[in-house]
Amino acid sequence: MAAKPESFRIAAVDSSAAANAFDFHRAITASDPHVWPRSEAQIKAYADDQCLFGAWRDSSGELVGIVYVVPIDDQWEVGGLSVDPSCQGKGIGSALVKFALAHTMAWSQPWKSKRRPKQQVVAHIHKENAAPRKIFSGLGFIHSKTVTIPGDKAPPSMKRDQSGNVCGDELRFTRDGLINLSRWFNEEFKGVLSRGDELEFDLGKDTLDNLRAALRGSEGDSPD
Ligand SMILES: CC(C)(COP(=O)(O)OP(=O)(O)OC[C@H]1O[C@@H](n2cnc3c(N)ncnc32)[C@H](O)[C@@H]1OP(=O)(O)O)[C@@H](O)C(=O)NCCC(=O)NCCS
Repeated sequence: MAAKPESFRIAAVDSSAAANAFDFHRAITASDPHVWPRSEAQIKAYADDQCLFGAWRDSSGELVGIVYVVPIDDQWEVGGLSVDPSCQGKGIGSALVKFALAHTMAWSQPWKSKRRPKQQVVAHIHKENAAPRKIFSGLGFIHSKTVTIPGDKAPPSMKRDQSGNVCGDELRFTRDGLINLSRWFNEEFKGVLSRGDELEFDLGKDTLDNLRAALRGSEGDSPD
């Protein structure tokens, strides 16, 4: 029998909720060797900078998913994506990344940076991790390179290959992805996910309208 639809909300994680988000992240990274663990100080800094996003179950108020998009070196990294197993497969992971990307595109405008023109938004996926690939390809990310991190430079929790390295793929966001993202926010998404669960973006109407307008205004920008 299909599960009864539930209601969720997605919003930026504010500083007061950073400790809760870190507990969530720590639990995921303790059991999943494909997710790069971040420190409590890093998660707190991402929340302080409005770069950390969460999904909450309305009925219980419980945090059920997180993702961050942060500037690291000369690019923006989508990372830490995780959804509690109790609500995977409902479209929450995909909606979280869309919200985080929209937020980043609209307010931080990485591709417009004068200091570092053509900043890319990238995601890194462990070589053996199948779960997030459809989310990123469906959002218009394309493969840019493979990445090999020597074992002595990677956190102990990350899965190594036979040579002792941590290997994965770097994917980058594209102009087509940006156009589709704008279309999804402005026209397609009506508050219901593919399996019937309800989802609200907790932003306030004016801010959501501004976000939609900013996305429409960026459609001509090219992260390529
Ligand atoms: C990856 C993860 C966040 C996906 O969250 P989710 O809420 O279940 O994702 P969605 O429901 O939005 O799924 C999006 C698509 O990915 C597919 N997908 C989800 N899990 C999958 C899996 N384990 N294997 C293959 N495809 C999968 C879904 O079928 C869906 O495709 P559809 O739109 O055609 O139905 C979740 O599986 C998770 O937390 N995994 C552990 C942490 C992790 O691997 N994080 C990624 C770090 S890069």
